[in-house]
Amino acid sequence: MAFFEWSDKFSVHIKEIDEQHKKLVAMLDELYVAMEAGQGSDVLGKILMEMVDYAGTHFSYEENLMLQHDYPEYIKHRAEHDVFVAKVSDLLQRYEKNPNVLSVETGIFLKKWLTNHIMGSDQLYAPWLNEKGIY
Ligand SMILES: [Fe+2]
Ligand SMILES: [Fe+2]
Repeated sequence: MAFFEWSDKFSVHIKEIDEQHKKLVAMLDELYVAMEAGQGSDVLGKILMEMVDYAGTHFSYEENLMLQHDYPEYIKHRAEHDVFVAKVSDLLQRYEKNPNVLSVETGIFLKKWLTNHIMGSDQLYAPWLNEKGIY
């Protein structure tokens, strides 16, 4: 059973970004499935690292588009990405010292942040970019 599934309400009407968000949602689901199955923290650590890596790629993609098209809230949006990356990097560092740090709270934090961001701040740039012909 999937914990998270893509829904059209997540769409920013930009094909490539929707695909990236779908992949992030799928990775989050994989993390939850592994947690639910009681997988060892080595498995969770590996999934989390892949997710963080992919999130970084995705954030750069969004930031470049926003910069190219003079999105007025770029600085604010980028700051949200930076806070997330810093928080997860800290989590990964703590995980390296103590693998048991990856708890249910970790999953809840990731789920909340990603869904709030995709359905909140990412929705805000969508009309701006759509208007510039980015779909
Ligand atoms: Fe995004
Ligand atoms: Fe974003």
